[in-house]
Amino acid sequence: MAVNRGLEDVVAAESSICKVDGEKGRLIYRGYDIDDLAENATYEEVVYLLWFGRLPVKEELETLRKELGANRALPKELVEEMKKWPKHAVPMEVLRSATSLLSMWDADASENDRSANIRKATRLTAQLPTIVAYWDCIREGRELVEPKPEHTTAASFLYLLHSGKEPDEVAVKSLDVALILHAEHELNASTFAARVAAGTLSDMHSAVTAAIGTLKGPLHGGANQEVIKMLLEIGEVANVEPYVKKMFAEKKKLMGFGHRVYKVQDPRAFHLRKMSEELCKGANQMKWYEMSTIIERLAKEEKKLNCNVDFYSASVYHVLGIPRDLFTPIFAISRISGWTAHILEQLQDNRLIRPEAEYTGHVDLKYVPIEQRKEVATAK
Ligand code: COA
Repeated sequence: MAVNRGLEDVVAAESSICKVDGEKGRLIYRGYDIDDLAENATYEEVVYLLWFGRLPVKEELETLRKELGANRALPKELVEEMKKWPKHAVPMEVLRSATSLLSMWDADASENDRSANIRKATRLTAQLPTIVAYWDCIREGRELVEPKPEHTTAASFLYLLHSGKEPDEVAVKSLDVALILHAEHELNASTFAARVAAGTLSDMHSAVTAAIGTLKGPLHGGANQEVIKMLLEIGEVANVEPYVKKMFAEKKKLMGFGHRVYKVQDPRAFHLRKMSEELCKGANQMKWYEMSTIIERLAKEEKKLNCNVDFYSASVYHVLGIPRDLFTPIFAISRISGWTAHILEQLQDNRLIRPEAEYTGHVDLKYVPIEQRKEVATAK
């Protein structure tokens, strides 16, 4: 049996949701190029597109927006629970745990048919941003305000995060585009985890909980937090070159660079770079953008590495005033649309996902009673 480490180049599903063209650097959601969507669509239109396979007409979009708006509040019992959690808890762990708990109050908890799952997907897409915003308020001792039904996902998140301060247009637009860019990416690790869980006919909340836990890792969604940590550590434009060269000399990985599928530039990085430049300029904090461009140049020159979605999103969120450990949760509140689209697709033509392993252990050992076993330094 040939083993593809990390399942590289293994095609594990048929899907009509998303195409990642790693050679040409193209990303397509349901037939639409990400460039087109980032420039013209809203996040809610993209959610509809991912779930139902086509762009909505006006009434359909209005209905989805109303349903999302009506479902942003969290069960009171969950909020009371969250208030008891340790204030140092990592937001991704809070999001993972709260999402899991949400199923206990979900009206369709015991149902697993398509219409129940679309209702669950709607509720989860509405509730995840509230969890993230509320957690930041709870741990920092800020007021929790009720969500406003008329807000979009991006506006609601910023409004709840800032305890009822209406967000400005530039911040809402920037976050909305970031949500579009992060919404879907074929069989990435967290989506695969979601499909594996859904494939056992487990429930949608379990599948999304698995996905959130998978996204958390620094090799996946956790990279954006590591990028801003690095930029803050570097501190000044003049420090960039020695810092990056030292990292390369020590063979350390540069966060926000490299990709399993893209062999050329990640198309999402183009939009985030542009957004980073505009936002840094607007906030009079150009050094984050300048430092980022130097890192990008050095990575290309010295290691032939391209940046990925996580690199410029870091400076974007930082300049928007979002705390570092909310960066990966923001990825999750966008990717929930892609995860749920994949869960729905998996269940439409389900087969248990169960690969095999090439066994490398012993086969002929005989049981030895414990009194007769010799002490060994390490067991194989
Ligand atoms: N910095 C430095 N070197 C890198 C690198 C990075 N960010 N990404 C890949 N490489 C190098 C590896 O060291 C390896 O070199 P080698 O063959 O000389 O050992 C080679 O490129 C292949 O990398 P590998 O980690 O095996 O690729 P992968 O396909 O398994 O992993 C990632 C893909 C995304 C996990 C990997 O590029 C990475 O760890 N990037 C940083 C984390 C990140 O930004 N994740 C977000 C992804 S959207």
